[in-house]
Amino acid sequence: MMSLAFVPLALVATALAQTCALPSSYKWNSTTALATPKSGWVSLKDFTHVPFNGQHLVYGSTHDTGSTWGSMGFGTFTDWSGMASASQTGMTSSTVAPTLFLFAPKNIWILAHQWGPTSFSYRTSSDPTNPNGWSGANTLSTASISSSTGVIDQTVIGDSTNMYLFFAGDNGNIYRQSMPIGNFPGSFGSTFTTVLSGATNDLFEAVQVYRIQGQTKWLMIVESIGANGRYFRSYTATSLSGSWTADKTSESAPFAGKANSGATWTNDISHGDLIRVTNDQTMTIDPCHLQLLYQGRATTSGGSYDLLPYRPGLLTLTNPGAASGGTTSGGGTSSVPPPTSSGCTTAEFGQCGGQGFTGCTVCASGSTCMFSSDFYSQCL
Ligand SMILES: *[C@@H]1O[C@H](CO)[C@@H](O)[C@H](O)[C@H]1NC(C)=O
Repeated sequence: MMSLAFVPLALVATALAQTCALPSSYKWNSTTALATPKSGWVSLKDFTHVPFNGQHLVYGSTHDTGSTWGSMGFGTFTDWSGMASASQTGMTSSTVAPTLFLFAPKNIWILAHQWGPTSFSYRTSSDPTNPNGWSGANTLSTASISSSTGVIDQTVIGDSTNMYLFFAGDNGNIYRQSMPIGNFPGSFGSTFTTVLSGATNDLFEAVQVYRIQGQTKWLMIVESIGANGRYFRSYTATSLSGSWTADKTSESAPFAGKANSGATWTNDISHGDLIRVTNDQTMTIDPCHLQLLYQGRATTSGGSYDLLPYRPGLLTLTNPGAASGGTTSGGGTSSVPPPTSSGCTTAEFGQCGGQGFTGCTVCASGSTCMFSSDFYSQCL
């Protein structure tokens, strides 16, 4: 009979999640357009996505046939093929270029956006599936820059101590603001730091920042204007408050673009969201299963930028880097050492369990894995 002492060790074995290195060059495949804008809109754009009770929840920007930008929410769907028939609900208060996440420490859903009353705004909700159930706009940032667009395309991310706002300016700069996590949700104020600087077309817009699951590493993607369409560059950092190191920054060998997307319906791989494995402010992605929900447009389309017929598409990374740190052992017949400091742990506020969850179930010291629902447990 097996010693009882082995039981917790076996549980630990199933808890250790794999992580994957970022590939030395990214290769993707792509779906065709996943949805068509409903009547009255020419485009669906700027997607933000969270996993929600085992389904996909997506918000985006819209443009009508005239001159008006707006925003919308899709009804939840289970498989990407279901996006085509998911409901598309226009929002009575527009939240252009939205960022959706659960602020887990206070269990509040946040929808951050541009073009509200201040530089950036946020709205709150207890039910993110209702596109018209959000609060009024609150001030997220009063940062100001001088560029043709001004501040544009925010994203928000947190670690265990701070919240950060990253944004672009269509001007070759990427900017960062921060605040103690206990002050969120609230305003990041007007002070900011420039974290990347380069040519306008190289660091244009649509910045997104993610925590790489199972690593002390963050990934930033930035949309660039190339000779053959929009593409994403990538950068990495070992701290959200630190500096960013180039990962893939050329159009011919990009993070994602015409050169490596596998997409034939679109040249542009433009503003979207990497598919996160948690719904919270940690913005965690699984480097072993990387997917990018992007906006693309028919290769034959052209004309005024505002009226370009952007639609959602999905890239799937087909060459993830070498896996490490994980084990698929769950049999409990062998002794596995407990996790060490180099083992897989989930940071405070990260997801540590739930149906279908394959990530780390070991919480960083100082936090405990708490059941929240069948679909979500969290390190608190
Ligand atoms: C992309 O590749 C993955 C495997 O790497 C496969 O499961 C998926 O069906 C492919 N998708 C498309 C659209 O070709």
